Amino acid sequence: LNRQLILVKRPTGVPADDCFALVDGPQPEPAEGEFVIRNAFASMDPAMRGWLDDAPSYLPPVALGQAIRATTVGEVVRSQSPKFPVRSWVLGLNSLSQFSLAHEATGWTSVIDGGGKVPLTNYLSVLGTTGLTAYFGLLDIGCPKPGETVLVSGAAGAVGSIAGQIAKIKGCRVVGIAGGPGKTARLINDFGFDAAVDYKGKSASELRKAITAVAPKGIDVVFENVGGACLEAALGALNTFGRIVLCGMISEYNTPVHERVGTRHLLQLIVKSARMQGFTFNIYASRVHDALAEIAPWVAAGRIRFDEHIEEGLDRALPAFHRLFNGTNTGKMILLID
Ligand SMILES: NC(=O)c1ccc[n+]([C@@H]2O[C@H](COP(=O)([O-])OP(=O)(O)OC[C@H]3O[C@@H](n4cnc5c(N)ncnc54)[C@H](OP(=O)(O)O)[C@@H]3O)[C@@H](O)[C@H]2O)c1
Repeated sequence: LNRQLILVKRPTGVPADDCFALVDGPQPEPAEGEFVIRNAFASMDPAMRGWLDDAPSYLPPVALGQAIRATTVGEVVRSQSPKFPVRSWVLGLNSLSQFSLAHEATGWTSVIDGGGKVPLTNYLSVLGTTGLTAYFGLLDIGCPKPGETVLVSGAAGAVGSIAGQIAKIKGCRVVGIAGGPGKTARLINDFGFDAAVDYKGKSASELRKAITAVAPKGIDVVFENVGGACLEAALGALNTFGRIVLCGMISEYNTPVHERVGTRHLLQLIVKSARMQGFTFNIYASRVHDALAEIAPWVAAGRIRFDEHIEEGLDRALPAFHRLFNGTNTGKMILLID
């Protein structure tokens, strides 16, 4: 059988348990060009929330009755594709299920080294989407120069902690925003940030004052993961010709579109001759190899520290997902499926 977590009802706000069901379906059988993956680990991503809405996005919505989409690493167990032979390990966009059916032509799946040189989970964290998002967003869009000040929100999280450490490697002064004294201490002690600000209990203007207090010369690059008050505060602290990398806006993902308040202070982009640009990591697919050639040695040399938070079992998928929104994940949120 194939146990899978399916969407039975579209959520409004924070996804409730009754929007999902664990069901046992038949094992998929591969047709020509297809292969079956036994999923070992799944990446739990904030973006999964958007895929549950029936709204236009960079990927189609998950259909009702369909398994929840997720990036996984797994082993090919049946194959009708010479490119993905049985016993090869693969990384790809699959689903929260024990087995996934994939086609060689979609371009989403790549073969990885399952030989144990690198822990499999690293392909979902520092050597996967997480590390690549931090790398491309910061360097390609943020264009940080040595000596500049970089502000990272969601800084103690998976993408944010890596973005901040890459900014340090590139010779920048780095300020992080995170929730609570435990996380702000980690930013400085474990991830080498120069300063940290706790956003909890602060309005946007209080947050801007707190940022300016630790970055008196202002902010040149913002790596934005949160949106809302964090983005408004960053806009206020931005220097002339500043760059805002719009990576994520997690504070808004559970708010229905018509209830979102929007971002005040966008006028600052004009006043500061500044730029704000969003991106999704997959636009950089052709450059992944080169990026990993730079990231992997940083990791091996201990210049990038990263954490993985692993929750065990498909029945733990929802609690694991909620951690991303209540801040109780410590590092890249990963689900052990098998
Ligand atoms: N553009 C892309 O291609 C791409 C790819 C991957 C991820 N992302 C984005 O990157 C961001 C981080 O993702 P991740 O996977 O690395 O997750 P993560 O940062 O490891 O976990 C999410 C963190 O966000 C913080 N958070 C949640 N709700 C918040 C709120 N209302 N206000 C302030 N902070 C809040 C929490 O930390 P605190 O305890 O500090 O609140 C939580 O730990 C997300 O916005 C995600 O959508 C974008």
